[in-house]
Amino acid sequence: MGLSIVILAAGKGKRMGSSLPKVAHKVGGVAMIERVIATAKSLKPNSINVVYGNGGTRIRDDFKQLNVNWIQQHQQLGTGHAVAQALPNISDKDQVLILYGDVPLISTSTLTKLLEHSNNRRLSLVVTELDDPTGFGRIIRNEVSNIIAIVEHKDASEAQRRIKEINTGIITANAKDLKKWLPKLKNNNKQNEYYLTDIVGLAVGEGLSVGGVKAASRQEVQGVNDRWELARLERYYQLSKAQEIAYSGVTIMDPNRLDIRGNVKIGKDVTLDVNVILEGDVEIGSNVVIGPNVIIKDSIIGKDTHILANSVIEGAKIANECSVGPFARIRPETVLEKKAKIGNFVEVKKSKIGAGSKASHLAYVGDSVVGKEVNIGAGVITCNYDGVNKYKTVMDDGAFIGSNSSLVAPITVGKNAYIAAGSTVTKQAPANELTIARGKQMTIPGWKRPVKSKKK
Ligand code: UD1
Ligand code: CA
Repeated sequence: MGLSIVILAAGKGKRMGSSLPKVAHKVGGVAMIERVIATAKSLKPNSINVVYGNGGTRIRDDFKQLNVNWIQQHQQLGTGHAVAQALPNISDKDQVLILYGDVPLISTSTLTKLLEHSNNRRLSLVVTELDDPTGFGRIIRNEVSNIIAIVEHKDASEAQRRIKEINTGIITANAKDLKKWLPKLKNNNKQNEYYLTDIVGLAVGEGLSVGGVKAASRQEVQGVNDRWELARLERYYQLSKAQEIAYSGVTIMDPNRLDIRGNVKIGKDVTLDVNVILEGDVEIGSNVVIGPNVIIKDSIIGKDTHILANSVIEGAKIANECSVGPFARIRPETVLEKKAKIGNFVEVKKSKIGAGSKASHLAYVGDSVVGKEVNIGAGVITCNYDGVNKYKTVMDDGAFIGSNSSLVAPITVGKNAYIAAGSTVTKQAPANELTIARGKQMTIPGWKRPVKSKKK
């Protein structure tokens, strides 16, 4: 039997107080709907069908690259009605798994357990126990502990409300059965909705046994209804991510002050100091030390490299044994080769810095190709922009750029060329020569300081 997945995401999400659709909000830097779809894909289904709502063509447009079937539910008439919208797309031969777009951390392993468990059953669901089950559908079991119904909180009696076992909403059933059961749902309940959960009663009426699989954690089945729940789930996610990384051989100075917002690969014996943020696709080699308050986005950091405090790195490829910061800013399309050193208050943009080259203090290097063992002095800037176009600067191997020089691009500083401090270089600086481009120092002998003129 094949698998088809239905993801419910048509709810309004009013309590988020947001103009963004609820499932577009992010956990760990990834939209909730994207997380659920990724988990769904890990199960290799025949199809993934996302049911979205009225206000929601935006979500279909924003996530169209995700390659799923988008099905509009024009009116939110309940979870049973929502699933019914997707059924025409699904073969009778498939097993259907229903997920929620606002339950982002559901794990592949729990879903696999559910699907295996339901092998000899026609209906199974994921359940959990809550200290405060207010608002959730309660699992009703008979005297031999078989599930016989789900009763929504609003429809439940006082006695039923004392039940702590709840329906997480994640359910699996055969397409054929769903096609038979869903048209039978009635909306004569407190919310006037077509409850998907009523299929439990229908199945039991046919003499079927309903399976219940326990969620591995409370949080993996946690739905997000408001921003406080979103914030709490984010903290849970971050802490579990930190734990996973720590177990893989990384020292984390404070797991409460590390944020991973994307896909991160980290080697062994890496140290992450406090307030490190890793965003997008980040790869960090072994023995890297990352100081406090560092942001790294979509970058690769080679092994044995040190990133010192308060540096911001984006879209860069940094080789082994480099040193960056403190207070460095590395902007997109920067490549640092082995043992390059970018020091404090240095900004590098779209430049290649060759092996062993240094810019240790207060410099701006943009649109440049810097060779090996080049020394870029304090306060050096590349004047790469004339207000309209950007131009390239080349500093060949072994060049020495004296402090506070301006290199007006397009320009080439030759191999082993030496630029005197304070030069404004506008023409090619030839290899192996000293180039000076600054006003000559003069001393005026006998010069007197001005004195205050007397009032007449
Ligand atoms: C539902 C379950 C309840 C369970 C709880 C877990 C039903 C009747 N109740 O209740 O047993 O304990 O989830 O969180 O199923 N949705 C649609 N279209 C609709 C209605 C809902 O797509 O017409 C989507 C929502 O976007 C959401 C999910 O279905 O992702 C659940 O809907 P919600 O209204 O939150 O259901 P609950 O009342 O919380
Ligand atoms: Ca809900």
